[in-house]
Amino acid sequence: MGLEVLLMNENPMPVLQNFLISSYAYSYVMKRQMTRREALRTMGLTIGAAALGFDGFTQINDNVFEYGLNLDEVFKPIKNPLNRPITAITCGAGNRGNTYGGYAEVFHDQVKIIGVAEPIPIRNERYAKTHHIPEENRFKTWEDVFTRPKFADAIIITMPDNLHYEPCLKALELGYDVLLEKPMAQTAQQCRDILAATRKTGRIVAVCHVLRYAPYFIKMKQLIGEGAIGELVSIQHMEPIQHIHMSHSYVRGNWHDSKQTTPIILAKSCHDLDILRWMIGKPSKSIAAMGDLKWFRKENAPEGSTDRCMNGCSVEATCPYSAMKIYYRERGWLYVFDLPDEKDKQGEAILEYLRTTNYGRCVYRMENDQPDHYITSIQFEDQITASFSMEAFTAYDGRRTRVMGSMGDMVGDMTELTIADFRTGKTITLVPKGEDVANSKNSGHGGGDWLLMRDFVTAVANQDPKYLTSTIDQSIESHLMGFAAEESRLTNKVVEIK
Ligand SMILES: NC(=O)c1ccc[n+]([C@@H]2O[C@H](COP(=O)([O-])OP(=O)(O)OC[C@H]3O[C@@H](n4cnc5c(N)ncnc54)[C@H](O)[C@@H]3O)[C@@H](O)[C@H]2O)c1
Repeated sequence: MGLEVLLMNENPMPVLQNFLISSYAYSYVMKRQMTRREALRTMGLTIGAAALGFDGFTQINDNVFEYGLNLDEVFKPIKNPLNRPITAITCGAGNRGNTYGGYAEVFHDQVKIIGVAEPIPIRNERYAKTHHIPEENRFKTWEDVFTRPKFADAIIITMPDNLHYEPCLKALELGYDVLLEKPMAQTAQQCRDILAATRKTGRIVAVCHVLRYAPYFIKMKQLIGEGAIGELVSIQHMEPIQHIHMSHSYVRGNWHDSKQTTPIILAKSCHDLDILRWMIGKPSKSIAAMGDLKWFRKENAPEGSTDRCMNGCSVEATCPYSAMKIYYRERGWLYVFDLPDEKDKQGEAILEYLRTTNYGRCVYRMENDQPDHYITSIQFEDQITASFSMEAFTAYDGRRTRVMGSMGDMVGDMTELTIADFRTGKTITLVPKGEDVANSKNSGHGGGDWLLMRDFVTAVANQDPKYLTSTIDQSIESHLMGFAAEESRLTNKVVEIK
């Protein structure tokens, strides 16, 4: 018995069995100001047989149901014929290198990081210490790694966008399997070259489209596939970047210049194009895009503002983008700084970064060119359409998705997924079970970051790319959609996706 019971039955309570409460359900109900006792009383019971890969549904409040993800069914069970952890070398020990490194720390029986390439000494040092990497396997730059014959199973490429293409080709040439951060490369042709090299060498390349691994999106795709809303007709998807995040990453930060990195539709949103393609399950045919950089421009600099927020800016106290407020007073977004371990020394270190790096500069006086709003309309096969918006100016983050079908619709925000059935007029809300997300609490993207690593490790151990949800063959299409969107935005034409 699955979702249809919840939607079709007048009163689902009589068919509920097997009492179950999870911490997430508990806190969810508590958020609605109920006591634990009330929660237990109000709570439902797990519905009988689960849909494939899911632990069935547990009613937690009125029309709200919780679902669990059975990892070994949704993904393939972990199987390692090597009888040892796979070994990997990380190129780029920054934010993402540490995300995947974090998996290796916890699941050291599955993967061991035995080498690192990283030019920033303190990052190299900390990474080597965490993973007990011997001196001879510590390198300044990725090129150094490839002066040696192959000495690990896999290479993890977590360097800036302009350092994906060459290192990936080199790694494949030397016989490594590769975990490749998105975007794969800076042009459509480079993406095709990587695909060709993967086929030629027969190696495994996993592209880090981590949203495919988030229980929430897995559930959404499964429901569409099961016909929960009839035939899929169209999808509206939105990525609210959140205004401070925009200023941090795409105005001041690493991705402020599209030519040095990639256009924001790839840098930020190849994930989203990928999720649309994945949920629809059919090829895209054409795309039209519009968007611009409207706000973070020199002409919008307030009177009295200065080159750096700390240099006597007269509007600093009220500016939402004040670097002093974001990084120094509120201590947010600090992962980009290599701060001393001693807490009392961190304040001065932050101020030094604000004096000397782009993170201390006025958001209206940067050399940024990434659009702060971007809309696309996509035609898929089978008369299905999708629209996607990427918006900087929101107070919130977390993708929002509306899926329209012939017999119902779904509305979700990566936490709750509300499904309406036109046949019965019923509406229910699904929330992912706490443990699925909590199991990977250091893993971002709704748990997807570490679940991707789980798949990659199993694929490498078994030398079989079928273990991956995000293979290179599948990932390339969303990149081609992104490059076509940018062409459309710049030429003001509808562009065919080939
Ligand atoms: N999958 C996702 O959801 C996701 C999220 C954020 C970023 N990314 C992508 O991941 C990549 C890394 O992003 P990040 O946020 O970790 O950036 P980061 O700046 O934190 O880390 C990159 C690291 O690479 C190092 N590096 C630079 N040149 C190098 C070289 N020649 N050899 C070895 N290392 C070198 C840098 O010093 C830095 O420490 C980017 O391509 C980014 O677009 C993906």
